[in-house]
Amino acid sequence: MENGQAANGAPVVLITGASAGIGAATAQRFAREGYRIVAVARGRERLDDLAATLSPLTEIVTLAADVAAPGVPQQAVDLAVQTFGRLDCLVNNAGAGRWAPVHATDDSMLDEVVDISLKAPFRFCRAALGAMQPGSAIVTVGSTFGIVGGLDGGIYCAVKAGLIGLTQTLAAQYGAQGIRSNLVAPGVIKTDMTKDYWNADFFTRINQEMTPFDRDGTAEDVANCIYFLASDQGSYINGQTIALDGGWSTTKYLCKDAMLAARVPHRAAS
Ligand SMILES: NC(=O)c1ccc[n+]([C@@H]2O[C@H](COP(=O)([O-])OP(=O)(O)OC[C@H]3O[C@@H](n4cnc5c(N)ncnc54)[C@H](OP(=O)(O)O)[C@@H]3O)[C@@H](O)[C@H]2O)c1
Repeated sequence: MENGQAANGAPVVLITGASAGIGAATAQRFAREGYRIVAVARGRERLDDLAATLSPLTEIVTLAADVAAPGVPQQAVDLAVQTFGRLDCLVNNAGAGRWAPVHATDDSMLDEVVDISLKAPFRFCRAALGAMQPGSAIVTVGSTFGIVGGLDGGIYCAVKAGLIGLTQTLAAQYGAQGIRSNLVAPGVIKTDMTKDYWNADFFTRINQEMTPFDRDGTAEDVANCIYFLASDQGSYINGQTIALDGGWSTTKYLCKDAMLAARVPHRAAS
């Protein structure tokens, strides 16, 4: 347990999208480190399951709400302060798993992804800044597709890139007040968001054939990085984007089998 626990007991983390996948793994990691938890997600049932799992380890309070509703970020921060008396870390994790190429993105998808994955994290940061003391940290979950773009990305890639800009701006504006901001950009991780694609050829190519590492990434890998960036272990890291993808986004690696495989044309023959 770190982050200056003198005032008002153990430190407190607010995690959006905490009831499943990367968010649930992150809640478990922080709980093991002695943090008290404020967990936000829409579905009540999975939040209750999370609370039942974590309550032997730590105190946890849950808020069943849509992060895209404009009042919810302030409501969640108020819940943290009223329940626990402090807020040490915000993990902006909830995001809309919706993607399509630009030409196939209608306004409804555009608005939904921007509301959940860009406006909501912005509002959570704005609300959290009002409650945070020096030594606090914001960690946002972006995506490697916000660093390198992606074939089907469209607005998903655009908002994830926007979160990098938000993180850098927060770092510049609030670092001097002792509030650090960083972003973790996972590659493809097997969660509910991706489970339908996991065995598809293009996923196998990304995860096994184009990633120079000997296993797939897990939600726990992401949670470990989020915790590291939030904790005193990462106390001089500010404004950074950490790709958590086994080297996928920084290499042009192809395994031998993929190099020898038949080429799949992306462009129509002229
Ligand atoms: N999985 C990957 O491969 C991958 C890769 C890169 C980045 N990411 C990013 O990682 C984050 C978490 O993804 P995941 O794979 O862990 O997803 P997941 O397993 O589908 O879990 C999503 C969590 O967010 C909650 N949530 C979704 N929309 C919400 C909303 N509008 N308001 C409140 N809570 C909401 C869900 O609960 P409810 O449905 O009950 O609300 C659930 O707790 C996302 O930002 C995603 O873009 C994921």
